[in-house]
Amino acid sequence: MCGIIGFVSSENTKAAVLIEGLKKLEYRGYDSCGIALVHNQEMALYKTKGKVKVLEDKLDKSLEGTSGLAHTRWATHGEPNDVNAHPHQIERVTLVHNGIIENSHELRKFYEMQGVTFKTETDTEVACAVLNDCMNKTNNKIEAIQKACTILKGSYAFGIFFDDELDKIYAIRKDSPLLLGEGKNIVFLASDCSAFLETTNRVLELNENEIAILDVTGITIIDEEGNEVKRESKEATLSLEEIQKDGYDTFLMKEIHEEPMVIKKTFHHYMKKSLTDLNDTMPSLKKYKRFVFVGCGSAYHAGMIAKTLMEQKARVISSTELASEFRYSNPILDDDTAVVFISQSGETADTLAALRMCNEKGIDTFAIVNVLGSSLAKEAKVFLPTLAGKEISVATTKAYCSQVAVLSLLCLKKAMEENKLSREEKLAIENEIERLPLLMKKYINQTSVEKIADTIQHHNHVFFLGRGLDYALSLEGSLKLKEISYIHSEAYAAGELKHGTISLIEKDTPVITCITNPDLVLKSISNTKEVETRGAKVFLLIREDLYSNLMDASAVILLPKVHDVLQGIVSILPYQLLAYTVAKKLGCDIDQPRNLAKSVTVE
Ligand code: F6R
Repeated sequence: MCGIIGFVSSENTKAAVLIEGLKKLEYRGYDSCGIALVHNQEMALYKTKGKVKVLEDKLDKSLEGTSGLAHTRWATHGEPNDVNAHPHQIERVTLVHNGIIENSHELRKFYEMQGVTFKTETDTEVACAVLNDCMNKTNNKIEAIQKACTILKGSYAFGIFFDDELDKIYAIRKDSPLLLGEGKNIVFLASDCSAFLETTNRVLELNENEIAILDVTGITIIDEEGNEVKRESKEATLSLEEIQKDGYDTFLMKEIHEEPMVIKKTFHHYMKKSLTDLNDTMPSLKKYKRFVFVGCGSAYHAGMIAKTLMEQKARVISSTELASEFRYSNPILDDDTAVVFISQSGETADTLAALRMCNEKGIDTFAIVNVLGSSLAKEAKVFLPTLAGKEISVATTKAYCSQVAVLSLLCLKKAMEENKLSREEKLAIENEIERLPLLMKKYINQTSVEKIADTIQHHNHVFFLGRGLDYALSLEGSLKLKEISYIHSEAYAAGELKHGTISLIEKDTPVITCITNPDLVLKSISNTKEVETRGAKVFLLIREDLYSNLMDASAVILLPKVHDVLQGIVSILPYQLLAYTVAKKLGCDIDQPRNLAKSVTVE
């Protein structure tokens, strides 16, 4: 979490290059921001609480410099305010930091005893003190950075200025991303290449513990032994169009509309013509007698769908685990268990730690990840990409959908290997996959959730009900709503509500029931009646062929009937549209909800 960008240029460059870069990185956190700009060998700091727009409005538009560092923060140590905003400075060192210094408390105490006075509550200022101390002792910048990094525990990507060489930026990273960019007369560092893509699409990777030096001659990379590394820049895989809103009012809406294309691309990647192609595009699953699906938030919900499908279609024992619990649960895992990690970013701290734990135990690990080159993608034994493209809105939509698509294929592959999929069913699924993108496109364009949104916007609590796969969908629908509209909601397995929570149902409490399974329709309707009897205002999201006029509801949203393996992909759409519509009515910041960040790299 947190985003950093820095540049060194041979000509005076507008501060806007940092501001625009920070705006692209705001998905990583937006509690406060700041820049350090060097003009005529003088450094000036500008910092503020709040979003980049606040800083932009405070800055003189003509401000320029030949080098600069900038930061957008997701607060860990110290409340979001002006003082705790980066960059931080102690004597000879000014730096920006993405990551977390786990031993900052002890180090702070140690340096306070040495007479250092800290101005902020941040772990980053402590890192400044350590580096400044190492610099005072060695007077060699590379050695000082290397020494400081042996003292600091945790994760970091640092962009560093030393006071006697303000035309150079030093950078190092460990367990936090950092990329380098090479343009004409200008070089960059950034947490993600979207930050400098408007200037250059030539990107260089920086490996863990390597040091990069940016100056007017270009970029020099030094390895851990102090030797220079020759590395050619590559063209960025990300395009400028992917990071623009393209006429939509929010990235969330743009990304919902991209779902049909993403689904087409993802399915096409794994099966060119038929499901039999999975034999070539996925490894054999024959040895596995058990699957464990691990993730956080929406990725966990995608895992719940996978568990249901793996058990129903392949009849193989499966479970879904929250990464933050799984990693500390001393899980019982055997050689015939596959642990499947699901993540959009591929950097979620708990998911990554859980993967590393499994790798250490020698258990087979799979990563279903969207960001190529991310830690999970690199470290898992098997990497199965989702092909959602860059997802910018903090709340996931298209990446979640493509996770469900890849997981469905994984379950189908196992079902085929277990001889649990008849030829007819295989053909039926292939036909459905073919028509899915167009069906989704029509559905997104034609579905109105206005009536439900109009009601919900006036309530403080909403309940979502469903059974089986519909329960997993309800959990994801509920998360979307609370995440971007700030309306409290809870999702319940429909049969479970009466075991306590039903006491919260009062007159007009909105309850949204999802019904897509023909075998459970009567049960779910009965559960809905139970809350309606107690005054709830009931809404139905129901598969079109299961709906009959006999079912009362304040509004009904019909879901297209598709093969049950694919139902989860289409049925989430109205929930995403609903969350968007409610948040829009309430005037919420849809792409950047409060307190959140896109990649959660802290535990
Ligand atoms: C919700 C959302 C989060 C993420 C979760 C895991 O809309 O986006 O719940 O799903 O933080 O993140 P990744 O998938 O990057 O591991």
